[in-house]
Amino acid sequence: MKIAIGSDHAGYALKGEIVKVIEELGHEVKDVGCDCADSVDYADYGIPAAEMVANGEADRGIVICGTGIGMSISANKVKGIRCALVHDLFTAKATREHNDSNVLAMGERIIGPGIAQEIAKVWLTTEFEGGRHARRIEKISDYEA
Ligand code: RB5
Repeated sequence: MKIAIGSDHAGYALKGEIVKVIEELGHEVKDVGCDCADSVDYADYGIPAAEMVANGEADRGIVICGTGIGMSISANKVKGIRCALVHDLFTAKATREHNDSNVLAMGERIIGPGIAQEIAKVWLTTEFEGGRHARRIEKISDYEA
């Protein structure tokens, strides 16, 4: 898969750790920035990463800021995006199985790099279950349209 990834300054260090996981799993990384730990605005990176997923340039996206909240709000403004803010392994799996989330948001100030890497692995390797969950997602898409 092609994975779009974006962070602000507060997620920059964790982004590097997540890039390693994406590459280890054999996926292609499409990094929209930021490129250093200087202060920036999360929407400038969260929206472009989400747009890459929405327009098909990437299959999924991962966005990281201090809390993950600004990034998840930004990504979810892009039509077609279902961004899940995740800080534990249970929801990493559940949001793929039930919500078919196509963008993952995490906060570098909330969890350590080890658990964040495990979350990314689980999220990237778990399939959507479909069935009744597809009907529920369709209701969101219908509203969005
Ligand atoms: C930056 O200080 C911080 O506000 C940002 O990374 C994020 O946590 C916002 O939701």
